[in-house]
Amino acid sequence: MSNLKTLGQFIIEKQSDFPYSKGELSRLLRDIGIAAKIVNREVNKAGLMDILGESGSTNIQGETQQKLDVYANEQFISALRSGGECCLVASEENEDIIRLEEEVSKDANYIVAIDPLDGSSNIDVNVAIGTIFSIYRRKSTTGLATLKDVLQKGVEQVAAGYVIYGSSTMLVYTTGKGVNGFTLDPSIGEFCLSHPNMKIPQDGVIYSINEGNYVHFPKGVKQYIKYCQVEDKATNRPYASRYIGSMVADLHRNLIKGGVFIYPVTFSAPNGKLRLVYECNPMAFIIEQAGGRATDGSRRILDLEVTELHQRSPIFIGSANMVKRAEEFLATAGNLTFHDAEPVLTA
Ligand code: AHG
Ligand code: MN
Ligand code: MN
Repeated sequence: MSNLKTLGQFIIEKQSDFPYSKGELSRLLRDIGIAAKIVNREVNKAGLMDILGESGSTNIQGETQQKLDVYANEQFISALRSGGECCLVASEENEDIIRLEEEVSKDANYIVAIDPLDGSSNIDVNVAIGTIFSIYRRKSTTGLATLKDVLQKGVEQVAAGYVIYGSSTMLVYTTGKGVNGFTLDPSIGEFCLSHPNMKIPQDGVIYSINEGNYVHFPKGVKQYIKYCQVEDKATNRPYASRYIGSMVADLHRNLIKGGVFIYPVTFSAPNGKLRLVYECNPMAFIIEQAGGRATDGSRRILDLEVTELHQRSPIFIGSANMVKRAEEFLATAGNLTFHDAEPVLTA
């Protein structure tokens, strides 16, 4: 008991990191932690409850929504609504921004962008999934908060985090002063500080990319993959390939062990697949705070201009030296150069 520090205690202790803070951000983080516990309860019973399977609706990107996607979205939004610190939510599951201002206090100055359930294709198969969140301060000073208040560069984030519902459930977050990880102790229902001051190794031996899309990758990415597979004792190659298909889980492992996660542009996804506002930016903030690197292949993710809520971006993120090496291959090959004709294997 003596060494136990709960998420709630930690957040309160850290409040003094922000001079003049009135505790709103602390309350907001606490609210997200509570919603995460509720979602975790449902995730854990996914195999038992009538919550598996498709809900029958699709989200704005045309993807089939799983019931847990919908459930998680509702839980996080309602926690933010009742918490009263957030004036506007942007979610992967909602085409438009969700205004809470009229329901919460006029002093609610925070904006939350969220991917309520990341890795939804893994729900039905008992593989780790997650939640990603990003917090901004409202910029506009009069009237209702608008879409523009969400379209801030990643560098403006005041906090970001993720929850991983894995073999154990963890909440990892940053407020720009390092990264701390908390493991849920189900016996007491509390997130407890288990991974203080997380740092990602500068080098690693894991590369994470959906290699099934290989023929659709730019030349530089193909060459980097081949580089990872070449035998070289000095650099510990060949590297290990590890790809779960839940960005949160793939990045969590790479954060702890060292590694690079890549979701590049492809022929079919010319802007990449992952979403800048609620996937790339929060993860980039966390990984940079842990000493890693995150770019779109050449530009820092956190500096990218944000023009649309559901904007996509390619991403190269993880151990700094691995990301840099991948960027070198892209620069040499020309970032967006694809092979001319792709080989077609016939039966
Ligand atoms: P989401 O479940 O929120 O739509 O996100 C899925 C994302 C991300 O978690 C994962 O890294 C990636 O999609 C996997 O995509 P592929 O199946 O194309 O590899
Ligand atoms: Mn996602
Ligand atoms: Mn999602």
